[in-house]
Formats: sequence, structure tokens, C-alpha cells
Amino acid sequence: MRIYLETLGCQMNRLDSELVTCLLAAAGHEMTGELRQADVVLYNTCSVRQLAEEKVHSRLGHLGAMMRRGKIGAPIVGVLGCMAQRTGHALRKRHPHVSIVCAPGQLGALVGMIAQAAEGRPAVALDPERTDVPARPADGPGDWDPRACDALDLARDPSLAPSPGQAYVRVMRGCDNFCSYCIVPFVRGPEVSRRPDRILDEVKRLAEAGRRTITLLGQTVNRYRWQAGGTTVRFSDLLERLSGVLGVRRLRFVTSHPLDFGDDILDVMASSPTICPYIHCPAQSGSDAVLAAMNRGYTRAQYDDLVDRARALVPDVVLASDFIVGFPGETQADHHASAELIRRSAFRNSFIFKYSPRPGSSAAETLEDNVPDDVKKRRNNELLAVQADVSLEHYTGYVGRTLEVLVEGPSRRVDKQAHAPTPQATQLSARTRGDHIVVFDGPTDLAGQYVDVEITSATAVTLLGRRAEGVP
Ligand code: SAH
Ligand code: SF4
Ligand code: F3S
Repeated sequence: MRIYLETLGCQMNRLDSELVTCLLAAAGHEMTGELRQADVVLYNTCSVRQLAEEKVHSRLGHLGAMMRRGKIGAPIVGVLGCMAQRTGHALRKRHPHVSIVCAPGQLGALVGMIAQAAEGRPAVALDPERTDVPARPADGPGDWDPRACDALDLARDPSLAPSPGQAYVRVMRGCDNFCSYCIVPFVRGPEVSRRPDRILDEVKRLAEAGRRTITLLGQTVNRYRWQAGGTTVRFSDLLERLSGVLGVRRLRFVTSHPLDFGDDILDVMASSPTICPYIHCPAQSGSDAVLAAMNRGYTRAQYDDLVDRARALVPDVVLASDFIVGFPGETQADHHASAELIRRSAFRNSFIFKYSPRPGSSAAETLEDNVPDDVKKRRNNELLAVQADVSLEHYTGYVGRTLEVLVEGPSRRVDKQAHAPTPQATQLSARTRGDHIVVFDGPTDLAGQYVDVEITSATAVTLLGRRAEGVP
């Protein structure tokens, strides 16, 4: 069958979609980018904010209308991922044309579910509901067996992968932090670290298949920990092992949590040329009162300390963050503390979100969403403006330097008038070790290669440059 798969949400979903693509291809299905030609339409969904779910409802509504008007055949429609888990059977009540609902931990069963739906029998597979808030159950339900947590990852076939050059690798599943605003621990289940030998094996296979940039994924990736017998493998140990894999040129990891970022990780980052000096470690707020209400587990002073240690130990370290504005009870003073934190930490960039109450999360259940939307909007814009200032200063700091970049391909920002693309010279987009995008002119066959680029100017989101002298 021809399968159309759209991915919404974070990198975890992008990885899951890649793994699902492998499964489907191995079962003889074919992927298509054309919705209208698809026999099966799948959405891999996100629940982190209400807006993310509304997007899916609107896609499904639109698809249903097209089906009713006969503008499209009658594809099998499936909802996968976090929203499938959060909304479960209710999804099929609201959108009766949905016949597959598959939670993140059940994706391994998708091929069978499609076959079942093709016979006219709807298929719903949900993960066990979490009842272990906030502590973990002593003996969790069988479906959460850590030994089975990576079945999908183990079946990965790099040759069937859609993104040459780079690859995501899951090092852990789920989350046990229960930040009070967050739905992720409910939809992604308990935190489970994968066996280090399996991760190593996967990275080796990916590197052999030409994936030279590897991004390790976990909701709190730096909390990775594997214990067996008398040995413990910490995240820093894992990084060290993986950085030695032949063929891996760049090793990144997201997302980090400020609480578990020890000097052992910073030291291994500083000593390995393969591990990128990039840390995405969301602060969420600069105010102690808000951090406590968010159940983040650290204070502002602890966050400042992490920033100082990172800058002291890792040369040229690049820091990035996330913030939530308008959390219940957030005052103007709290808001200013967040702005001040952005300045002090000199983040390269921050993702800034308006608080969105998620049903079932403790903030949504116990705190009134009492910051009016216009105030949320204003605070959002104010933090974006502060971050834009800080970003411009950060990027401008690279002007005049020569950086090694990995060329990704023709730039999407190409100014077609000024740069009529030819095979000899087109505008290329590349990435630094610190994860900055660099745009420069060069031949298209540089894609996938590492070259030195001299940075000539900067904006708040990009570096511009030219190929360094001395290259033929
Ligand atoms: N595991 C990662 C990312 C979680 S979701 C981490 O812990 O950092 C990505 C971002 O979405 C979060 O960092 C947070 O800034 C934002 N977010 C999560 N829940 C939210 C909510 N209910 N409303 C608004 N933003 C939210
Ligand atoms: Fe959500 Fe917090 Fe877990 Fe991140 S650490 S996924 S914000 S609960
Ligand atoms: Fe969204 Fe699920 Fe990722 S809720 S942010 S897709 S883990």
C-alpha cells in the first residue's frame, strides 16, 4: 500500500517516524509524499500544547471533508504518537474516519494494525496509563519492560532511512520528572535507559551507512544511566564510548535537564573533538517561585552555576534554552527574571512558549490559568525581543573567524535573483559544530562534506561566509 506519513512534534517523533518508515518498507509498503495518492494516511502527533493538538484536529477534519466530498479515495486514516495516547478512543468518536490509534510505545504493532484496518476492523493500541505519579511502581506493567523498550529501535535499517548524513538515536524513553505543566511523562511513559551495547551497535551501523552526525535523544538525556551487576554507565561514559565510533564526526545530544548536568559531562565534552559543544538545557523560567511551582527541581542559582561551569570547562560552548511565559501566578517581576536570565546566560537561541494547560498535568488540575492571554502574548514578544538582541550579539561574535562546517545542501533561503544556482556555485547551507547555520557560495557537490568557511557577517539566526582561502 502507499503510505503518507506526516510528522508533528519533537525530534522523538521524527525518530519514531523514521523507524516506522523502516518497518513499513520492510513489510512491503511504499511511502508517498502525495496525500491524494495514499492508501493510508498517518499523522504522528504531539500533545505538548493545545495548539499542537488543534493542528491534528484540523488536518483530520479537512481530510474527513475531502473524503465526504469524494475529492480523495477512502484511505485508512491513523493517528500515531503522543496525542493518540492522550486522547485514545475519544479521537475516533470525534473523527469517525480514523481507524488506527497507536500510542508511542505500540508503534511496533503498526503493520498488523494497518492490515486489520484494511479488513474494516478499527485498531486501537494504547500504552498502559500512568498511575505511578510521582513515584515509580515497584513492578511496572509488562508493556514497560525495559528489555522491550527498544524493540522498534533494534529493527532499524539505516539503508531505508530518509535523512542521509545525520541520524537520531534514542538513548532513553519516557520521563519521570513530572514538571507540573507537562504532558510528556503521561504520554511517553516511565523513564527507561537503553542498554549501552545496543546503543553502541546502532551508532556503529548508522556510521557504516554514512550517518556521520549522530544526535542522541532523551527527554532528559543527561540523566541516562545504565546499571547492571556492579557497573554503572553514566551519560558521560556513554558519550565517551560513542565518540570513539569510527565514522562518527559529530555527536550531539538533546534535551538536557539542568539538575543532572555534572562536570563529568562537561569534561568529556571538552576533551572530545567529536562531541559538539552545544547544550540545549531549558531553563523554563528565571524565577525561583515559578521554578518551584513548575516542579523543576532546581533554583535560579543552580541554573546560573551550570552556565558558569559550562563556560569555564567547555571552550566555545553554545547554550540554548526554552522558556514558558504566563505560567499560573507569574508576576511581572518573575517575567523580568526570565529576561535577565536570557541576558546573563547569553543563549544562542531560546524557544519561548505561552503556557498551555494540559489536562491531567498537575498544574492544569491545581492551578488557575490566571495570566490573561494578552499578557502572555506581550511577555512572549518581550522575551523574543531580548533573545533576538542576545542572539545577534552571539552570532556577530563569530565574524572574522574561520569555522569547520558540514555542508547540508543548497540553502532554502536562496535569493534566486542574485544567485542563479549553477552546479559550480549556488548558495549552500551548512552547520558548525556549535549547530549554527552558515550560508556561503560553493558547488552543490560539496553536500555532505566538511569545509572551512570564513565568517563575513551575521544575523540573529544565521552566519554568512565564504570558503576559506587556500582551497583549490
Ligand atoms: N524534555 C524536554 C522537552 C519537553 S517539551 C525538556 O524537559 O526540556 C519542549 C518544551 O515545551 C519544554 O521545554 C517547555 O518549554 C514547553 N512546554 C512543555 N509543556 C508546556 C505547556 N504545557 N505549555 C507551554 N509550553 C510547554
Ligand atoms: Fe516534560 Fe519536564 Fe519531562 Fe521535560 S523534564 S519532558 S518538561 S516533565
Ligand atoms: Fe510532543 Fe510527544 Fe515530543 S508531546 S514534544 S511529540 S514527546
